[in-house]
Amino acid sequence: MASFCSVLLTIVFIFTITASVTRISSSTRTFTIVNSCKETIWPGITHSENISGGGIELKPGKSTVYTASSGWGGRIWARTSCKFNKNGNGTCQTGSCGSTLNCTGPSSPPTSIAEFNLGEIDYYDVSLVDGFNLPVMVKAFNGTGNCSTAGCDGDMRQNCPSDLTLKAKGKVIACRSACDVYKTDEYCCRGKYGNPDTCLPSNYSKSFKLVCPAAYSYAYDDPTSVITCSGANYVVAFCATRNQTVCSYHDNQLFCNQSKGLKVVPHRWWVAVLAIPLMLKLCVMF
Ligand SMILES: *[C@@H]1O[C@H](CO)[C@@H](O)[C@H](O)[C@H]1NC(C)=O
Ligand SMILES: *[C@@H]1O[C@H](CO)[C@@H](O)[C@H](O)[C@H]1NC(C)=O
Ligand SMILES: *[C@@H]1O[C@H](CO)[C@@H](O)[C@H](O)[C@H]1NC(C)=O
Ligand SMILES: *[C@@H]1O[C@H](CO)[C@@H](O)[C@H](O)[C@H]1NC(C)=O
Ligand SMILES: *[C@@H]1O[C@H](CO)[C@@H](O)[C@H](O)[C@H]1NC(C)=O
Ligand SMILES: *[C@@H]1O[C@H](CO)[C@@H](O)[C@H](O)[C@H]1NC(C)=O
Ligand SMILES: *[C@@H]1O[C@H](CO)[C@@H](O)[C@H](O)[C@H]1NC(C)=O
Ligand SMILES: *[C@@H]1O[C@H](CO)[C@@H](O)[C@H](O)[C@H]1NC(C)=O
Repeated sequence: MASFCSVLLTIVFIFTITASVTRISSSTRTFTIVNSCKETIWPGITHSENISGGGIELKPGKSTVYTASSGWGGRIWARTSCKFNKNGNGTCQTGSCGSTLNCTGPSSPPTSIAEFNLGEIDYYDVSLVDGFNLPVMVKAFNGTGNCSTAGCDGDMRQNCPSDLTLKAKGKVIACRSACDVYKTDEYCCRGKYGNPDTCLPSNYSKSFKLVCPAAYSYAYDDPTSVITCSGANYVVAFCATRNQTVCSYHDNQLFCNQSKGLKVVPHRWWVAVLAIPLMLKLCVMF
């Protein structure tokens, strides 16, 4: 029976070691992408440097989990009204990033974008610098620091200045940025206007800010649009407003409608620590 016990204890020991390694390397963040829209969306994820992104289809009310580690910087947005064929080739009405389900390039405007830079301290924001296609909200769970919620309180498509609207079949499908429409240095914060002192809010950017107070409305918007947070996991919800409860966090888990998020912090090593005395007791019994 001695060999049985030593095998058992070795297994427990190895489990404990690997579990604590998992714990040490748990500087990963989970991004739960939620579709609170009434229609299907095709979220895109692009890395800021290497443009090799993911792409998925997300039905209304569904969510999906994406994992990134510290050091990752990138953008998450939604494509709308896409049609992909069997090969995964196709087009979308807004947010396109190449002609395949997996993104092969950055999103084409107008697109509302959630931006992240992960590190010791994470930085995140919602940017409407490239315009607006869907309301987006970024909420941090279980983090320390400011960790306030970024995004919108309404739908810019219903509040879009008429000269900025993008329509399909008479319906407003997105709101373009003034830079995209007029291409002036003033609206694009270029040339003489290429710094925060000279590039000021325009009547257009103000109309974006009104609907989405916690989002960048133009390139040199108030830097308080960037939020800091440490050790959090994030929910990126499309068609949700800041005050909406899309997911809740309890028992170390994130619960989102119709889909359970990943377990946030691996606490397996505790199980192993608790298991050791039990194993020893079993061994003594044998
Ligand atoms: C999730 O459920 C809550 C409560 O049932 C509801 O208030 C919320 O709108 C739902 N969110 C989505 C994205 O369906
Ligand atoms: C991808 O990123 C890595 C590190 O960020 C870099 O070394 C590499 O050259 C990049 N590859 C391409 C194709 O840009
Ligand atoms: C269709 O997809 C294939 C592989 O996914 C790709 O090689 C090809 O260029 C695509 N065609 C078009 C027209 O985008
Ligand atoms: C899309 O990207 C995912 C994740 O990087 C990969 O597993 C999948 O094979 C890709 N699909 C295509 C059609 O390129
Ligand atoms: C984060 O979750 C862990 C594990 O559930 C908990 O011990 C910790 O207090 C939480 N931190 C915050 C800031 O909520
Ligand atoms: C914004 O200002 C420009 C120039 O001052 C004007 O032409 C335009 O009508 C204004 N738009 C709105 C929505 O107020
Ligand atoms: C959190 O950060 C935002 C953006 O910088 C700021 O507007 C807000 O006042 C901060 N909240 C707290 C409680 O510090
Ligand atoms: C959230 O805010 C919107 C707009 O500010 C408001 O119409 C709505 O009633 C609020 N919802 C909740 C649940 O507080």
